[in-house]
Amino acid sequence: MAINDNLDAFKEVHSETSIDTSKKFRIGFIGCGWIAGAHLRALKNQPDVEIVAGCDLIPGKAAKFFEEGGVEGVKTDYASHKEMIDDKSLNLDAVTICTYNRQHAAPAIYALENGLNVLLEKPFTVTLEEAVEVMKAEKKSGKILSIGFQPRLDENMKMIKRIVESGELGKIYYIQTGGGRRRGIPTPFGTTFIEKETGGIGALGDIGCYSLDMLLNAVGYPKPLTVTGYKSAFFGTDPNYSNYVKSGHPEYAEKFGVDDFAAGFVRLEGDIILDFRISWAMNMDTAGDALILGTKGGLRIPSTECWNGSIGGPLKIYHEVAGSQVCTEIPVQKNEGPSLFEKKVRAFIDACKNGGTAPIPSSQIVINQAILDGICKSAELGHEIEITIPEV
Ligand SMILES: NC(=O)c1ccc[n+]([C@@H]2O[C@H](COP(=O)([O-])OP(=O)(O)OC[C@H]3O[C@@H](n4cnc5c(N)ncnc54)[C@H](O)[C@@H]3O)[C@@H](O)[C@H]2O)c1
Repeated sequence: MAINDNLDAFKEVHSETSIDTSKKFRIGFIGCGWIAGAHLRALKNQPDVEIVAGCDLIPGKAAKFFEEGGVEGVKTDYASHKEMIDDKSLNLDAVTICTYNRQHAAPAIYALENGLNVLLEKPFTVTLEEAVEVMKAEKKSGKILSIGFQPRLDENMKMIKRIVESGELGKIYYIQTGGGRRRGIPTPFGTTFIEKETGGIGALGDIGCYSLDMLLNAVGYPKPLTVTGYKSAFFGTDPNYSNYVKSGHPEYAEKFGVDDFAAGFVRLEGDIILDFRISWAMNMDTAGDALILGTKGGLRIPSTECWNGSIGGPLKIYHEVAGSQVCTEIPVQKNEGPSLFEKKVRAFIDACKNGGTAPIPSSQIVINQAILDGICKSAELGHEIEITIPEV
C-alpha cells in the first residue's frame, strides 16, 4: 500500500521571506578546519552576511583557509578565540564555532559572555557538565545559541517527526536508533576525532548524537531517567586496523583515546525505552534500522551504510487497516533548494536578527548530551546509573 495520494496530510507549509541586506550580519569563525569549509560555503551564499574574522590555534591556518575559500579582507591575526572575541573593533554579531569537541564549551561560554550569538558545531560538548555551563552563559547573555544538527532539516527527518506527531503510531513505547560503519574511523584530516584531548568522545559524539536526534526530536525529546551504557575501542587501538594500514598510519592506534563502538539502554520519561548502538568500526554491515514502536503503528527507518544525515530507503509504517495487517510505504523525500548547511546557517541568522528562538535549542540538545554522557559514565562504572539534568 502506498500513500502518495495522502502525503499532503504530512506536507509542511513554507513561507518565503525576503532577506533584509541593509545591515550586514558580522560573523567570525572559531576553528578553521574541515567542517569550517562547509560553514564558509554556506555563509558566503547569505546576502546579509559579512565574514569579518577568523582564528585557529594553528598559526597561519585561518589566513590560508580564507584565502583558499576566496574570501578577502578577513582579520585572522589572532592566536586564540579569546583574542578574536576581545577585538571589539570587529563589531561581531556572532561566531560560528567549528573546533574539535573538547573546544566547544570554552569558546561558546566566552562568546556568550561577550554578548555574541553562537552557532556551535555538534556534539553540543563532551560532558553534560560542560553543556550545563554553556547553558548558564546562554541564559545570562540572552543571546541565541544554536547547535549544528543540520540533518534534522532533511525532509525525511521532518517526515518522521510529522508521522509521530500525527498520532498515526499511537502511544510510543519503544525507540531503537543508531548507526554503523563497518570500517570508518574518521582520520582523513589527522587525529582530532580520535584523541581524548581533542575529540573526548568518539563514535558517540560524532554520529551517535545525530542518530539520537533523529528519533528524540521526533518523539519530543523526553528526558532520560536511567541508562546502562557500554563502549569499546577494539578497532581504534589496533595498529593492524585495516584503514590505518591502508593509510600508512599504524601509530594512530596509540593516539586513539575514545570509543569506536557504544551502546545504551535508556529509560525515558513518558514510559519510553530507547535502545541505541553506534559504530565507527565493527564486524557487521549495519547496526540495524531505526524503529519506533507505537500502540497503533510501528515505523521502520532503513539505515544508511554510513551515517549521512538521511535515510536508507522508504519509510515503512506497519499497522492494521480494517483488521488487516498492512505496511504503508512512504517514499524518500527530496531535499530541494539550499543545502542543509545553508538552511542551518540561515535559520540561525534569522533567529539572531529577528529576536527569535534558537532553531536547534540547547534545551533539547542537552538531553542528547545527557544520554551520551550517561552512556560514558555507566560504561566506566559497569552498571546502570540515574541521569539528572540540572536546571539552568
Ligand atoms: N555538522 C556536521 O556535519 C559536521 C561534520 C564534521 C564535523 N563536525 C564537527 O565539527 C567539529 C570540528 O570538526 P573538524 O573535522 O572541522 O575538525 P578539525 O580538526 O579539522 O578542525 C578543528 C579546528 O579547530 C581548531 N581549534 C581548536 N580549538 C580552537 C580554539 N579554541 N580556537 C581556535 N581554533 C581552535 C583546530 O586547530 C582545528 O584547526 C567537530 O566537533 C565535529 O564533530 C560537524
